[in-house]
Amino acid sequence: MNAHAIQHHQIHVAVALLHAGKTVAFPTETVYGLGADAANPDAIKQIFEIKGRPTTHPLIVHIADKSQLETWATNIPPAAWRLAEQFWPGPLTLILPRRSNVLDAITGGQDTVGLRVPDHPVAAALLRAFGGGIAAPSANRFGRVSPTTAQHVRDELGSRVGMILDGGPCHVGVESTIVGLTTGKAVLLRPGGLSIVAIEHVLKQKILRTSPAVRTERVSGMLDSHYAPATPIEILPVGALWQRALQLAWKGQKIAVLKHGNNGECFDSIGITTFYMPSSAKEYAHQFYATLHRLDHGSFDCLLIEAPPATHEWLAINDRMRRAAHGAIKENNFPQGVNS
Ligand code: TXA
Ligand code: MG
Repeated sequence: MNAHAIQHHQIHVAVALLHAGKTVAFPTETVYGLGADAANPDAIKQIFEIKGRPTTHPLIVHIADKSQLETWATNIPPAAWRLAEQFWPGPLTLILPRRSNVLDAITGGQDTVGLRVPDHPVAAALLRAFGGGIAAPSANRFGRVSPTTAQHVRDELGSRVGMILDGGPCHVGVESTIVGLTTGKAVLLRPGGLSIVAIEHVLKQKILRTSPAVRTERVSGMLDSHYAPATPIEILPVGALWQRALQLAWKGQKIAVLKHGNNGECFDSIGITTFYMPSSAKEYAHQFYATLHRLDHGSFDCLLIEAPPATHEWLAINDRMRRAAHGAIKENNFPQGVNS
């Protein structure tokens, strides 16, 4: 049993809290979620209060397995069943036509609902023991960096959460891929932990990257500024990285540099601290939010990040990085059409 093994009694307490209309933060494979009973409007209200999130932004309903899809969604297209069959449990959220019983507080008043089966033993145990759906956004304040450890949740939300289940660091580290399936065509609403290439392979068709019919402002993770640490971020091609770092350091600023490399070591020189990040997209995603959380506590004046490659493996990382930087970066460093 590892240090993060959850005891049965913790799951029982968490389930009792959920039934009592309280919130429970829990680990998933992507990020930690701030959960509440998806069928209890008062419980859902607390999620929005704790996060400081506008009530028009819909929540993902987490379910134990795909057999519960029809409790929440209707007119489920064959493509949704195929994706659920192939990728659940896993980092994929499906947006489907809602059933009429689904609370407006969950859907933001829209006629669709987001559903996902998380791939984490603690989330799975919680969902099975609870029986119903658990509405859960990422367990961070609105617009901030998502938590990938229980400590991040404690730091960010602390005692306002009924209980925090500690399942160790999330192994994917970036949120689920969101696919809309309400218009007859699969639409990518948010790149994430599951590669779009894998999804396209199963659907045997290209996924649309955007849709004019999609109200992107309702997909809160699609706001230009999101997933943002307090420290200002600049994203630069490797050639411009050191020049900029030196320029700022000479002005007396304390600079952190995130650079691709083979080891996790960092070194200090004239006010510049360099952190080496993994060169594989998967490992990078796993560490990215945790690194942002750590750097935010390091009282740096500015964080300079080496721009990742523009290939599909890096789609979600490029997306989150750009939002974390408040859009304050040069567009030509990024793959086109990710969020346009
Ligand atoms: O990996 C994840 O998806 C994590 C874990 C906890 O499951 N959850 C997560 O939730 O990232 P949240 O609320 O931080 O982001 C979910 C995104 C939001 O941008 C929300 O607007 C969008 O999903 N969403 C939820 N329901 C939707 C719907 N019916 N239509 C369009 N977008 C929806
Ligand atoms: Mg979020």
